[in-house]
Amino acid sequence: MRKKIVAGNWKMNKNYSEAMELVNEITNLLFDTKDNNKTILLSPPAIYLKDVVDLVSDYPSVYVASQNCAATENGAYTGEVSASMLHSIGVTHVIIGHSERRLYFNETNSILNNKIEKALLADLQVVFCCGESLEQRENNSFFDVIKTQLFDTVFKLSAEQFKQITIAYEPIWAIGTGKTASAEQAQQMHQFIRECIKNNYTSEITNQTSILYGGSCNAKNAAELFSQNDIDGGLIGGASLQAQDFYQIISAV
Ligand code: PGA
Repeated sequence: MRKKIVAGNWKMNKNYSEAMELVNEITNLLFDTKDNNKTILLSPPAIYLKDVVDLVSDYPSVYVASQNCAATENGAYTGEVSASMLHSIGVTHVIIGHSERRLYFNETNSILNNKIEKALLADLQVVFCCGESLEQRENNSFFDVIKTQLFDTVFKLSAEQFKQITIAYEPIWAIGTGKTASAEQAQQMHQFIRECIKNNYTSEITNQTSILYGGSCNAKNAAELFSQNDIDGGLIGGASLQAQDFYQIISAV
């Protein structure tokens, strides 16, 4: 019942023609195998979102996710892009709570909660990221850290609202470092997150919530990570910038 999801978070990479070429390469590979059993999310920089929406419109399992949305509705917020604007161009998902947004753009829980609220009001599904730092991993506080991150944000939602949430567990020490969590470490945390969802909501909701792993997931290690019971796919950064690598990761889920 849980959806298998592979999301490519391109971050701030690729110029316009490179971005269009990457989408075409990915969709060609998917078309060749007619692999429609999975949900694939492409998350390009905001400036390319509409083009990517148009390019994937013939691929029913491919959706477009924004890397961010504003914490406020439309109005005098220079430089911001609202959730309802994203929805109006055909974007269906938004990534919220990525550690880079928390760290470099000072996104606090209260900001994240406003973004989640605006996203859900605009009918966007949310990929909500959580993850501990290396220090928190080493001092063994990681379970508490993740639990707090969830309780302070998405666990405040009603059960109905929570159905629009996909969780991405992304240990910060594994993002862009080439240092992946072992399949056992990832499974242990995913199982813990699932247990937390069950305690806060119901078994039914737990069984419907996809939990993705992110952090140096690549074509080589994806199959082992995805074979774990509680890992339903991945949020892929670096390895989503190469069509073949990304396709191999999609094939592994
Ligand atoms: P990475 O990034 O795959 O390059 O480690 C993952 C992410 O930040 O979502």
